[in-house]
Amino acid sequence: MNNVQFSYPVGFTKNIQAKPVRVMLLGSPIVLFRGADQEIVALEDRCPHRGAPLSGGRVDNGSIVCPYHGWTFGKEGKCSRLPGLPQCKPRNIHAAKPFKVTEKYGLIWIGEGKIPEIPEWETHDCFYMENEVESTLLHVMENALDPLHTLFVHNGWIRKQGKEKDVKVTVTISEDEVLAETFEESAQEGLIHRLLTLGREVTRSYGRVVGSNCFQLGYDTSKGDQLRMTAFLHPVSEGVTKVYTANLYQTTLPNWLFMRLAKVFFEIAIKQDTDMLKLQSNNLKHWNTERFVSTQGDFMGPWIEKILKGEKLIPKRYEVQLNV
Ligand code: FES
Ligand SMILES: [Fe+2]
Repeated sequence: MNNVQFSYPVGFTKNIQAKPVRVMLLGSPIVLFRGADQEIVALEDRCPHRGAPLSGGRVDNGSIVCPYHGWTFGKEGKCSRLPGLPQCKPRNIHAAKPFKVTEKYGLIWIGEGKIPEIPEWETHDCFYMENEVESTLLHVMENALDPLHTLFVHNGWIRKQGKEKDVKVTVTISEDEVLAETFEESAQEGLIHRLLTLGREVTRSYGRVVGSNCFQLGYDTSKGDQLRMTAFLHPVSEGVTKVYTANLYQTTLPNWLFMRLAKVFFEIAIKQDTDMLKLQSNNLKHWNTERFVSTQGDFMGPWIEKILKGEKLIPKRYEVQLNV
């Protein structure tokens, strides 16, 4: 498993309590539990002895005990006990494979890579949503940041066919980020858009890819409302991606009202997207290779592909004209 280059979230910290929890990352099982100082420990969920799942065992004083022969592992996978073998002292070869864990944004991150910097985390209110999608990181990210599909998948909800407008998108590329911004776009016709902005003018909207594990959709209105849908991405296995979306907001509406409206409408839009992504994935299974034809309307996908391959991008800025 490639656990060095990138870091990914694997779940919420609040869900790790007394019992060990098994999660999947890039198709490999990992066991999470709370160590002696309550910090979260992540180990390969395979006992080095005979391969039993450690997650089927129990946690004893901050160490995990294998359910098969009781080998016991603590922080960094160090083996502290080999039951029934008083003459055998645990050594490095008896250790379980550890992963680096970072707790941030209420999530457990595994890996050595960068965790996105989200300054709004300190200043904005937040509610989380969690979704599982039958699709890859690339397609999930591209879908969220692609304005053209909104006319079809979300017709009447986000944008509306027959009511298209000319929109200029400014694309800014930096090392491992892509930002696509639109300024002073006249109001979109879709119901979700109208309700969430209350007909206010959106002065700036943007889509941003932040490294390999995060994207953000942002909206600012003329009245000072701000919404930052920040999606942290968990590649569970080939073709399954979990998305933890921190909806960070500052609104002139009462918070409870904004949250209720936002939840209802985001769920509708997410369902429309996940259905389409599933159709796409199932269809692509009929071919061994992925070949796509891009236009200048697909200004995110090719950059996302490079970021996911770990390529450093060459900074530049350009404009794209759309009618959406
Ligand atoms: S398989 Fe874990 S102790 Fe034997
Ligand atoms: Fe969508």
